[in-house]
Amino acid sequence: MERLAEAIRRCRKCPLHRARNRAVPGEGPHDAAIFFIGEGPGRAEDREGRPFVGRAGKVLDGLLSGIGLERARVFIGNVVKCRPIDARGGDRRPTEEEVKACSPYLDKQLELIRPRIICTLGDTATRYALKRYGLAPSRIRELHGRALRVGDSILLPMFHPSAALYRARLMASMREDFGRLRALLSDLGIA
Ligand code: URA
Ligand code: SF4
Repeated sequence: MERLAEAIRRCRKCPLHRARNRAVPGEGPHDAAIFFIGEGPGRAEDREGRPFVGRAGKVLDGLLSGIGLERARVFIGNVVKCRPIDARGGDRRPTEEEVKACSPYLDKQLELIRPRIICTLGDTATRYALKRYGLAPSRIRELHGRALRVGDSILLPMFHPSAALYRARLMASMREDFGRLRALLSDLGIA
C-alpha cells in the first residue's frame, strides 16, 4: 500500500500531474471495513496531499461523527488522485480519459483493502463502481442509500458532500443515507 502511494505521488500517466502541487493517494487503515470513494482532490486537498480536508471534508466529517463513526477507522480515497483544474483555476470534474488513466490505482487499493462496504460519494465515483462491478449505469438520484451486493462487498452510493453543502434537502437525504450505513454496520456486526 505504501509503495502504491509512492507510485501515485510520482505518477505522470495523465496531464493532471502538470498542475498538481501534491497527488492525493488516499488515507486510512489498510484493513478498513469501509472505503469511501470521492471524485478527485480539490484545492485544499491538492495543497495538503490528503483527501477531504476542505469544505466537502467538513461535511463528510460531520456526517461521520453523526453516526458515531471515527474517520480514522475508514479508508478515504478518490477516483482520480490529482486535482482537475478548469481554465479559471477552479475545480472541475475529471474527464473520462483522466478517470481511465487513474482508476487502476483505485482498483488496486480496493483489492488490497477488500472492504466490506464501499460508499461512493457522488456521480463520478458511483459510475466508476457500477462499471467496475458490471452493473448497469444508473443515476445517483435513484441509487443513493440503496445497498447493492458487488462481489464480496456491499456498494452503498451516496450524494457528494459538496453537492449537499448549500442544499438543505440534499443534506437531510445524506443524513438518512448515513443512517442506512449505520444500520448496515450493525447488521454486519462491524460497529
Ligand atoms: N471532493 C472529492 O471528491 N474528494 C476530495 O478528496 C475532496 C473533495
Ligand atoms: Fe497519475 Fe492519476 Fe495523477 Fe493522472 S491523476 S497523473 S493518472 S495519479
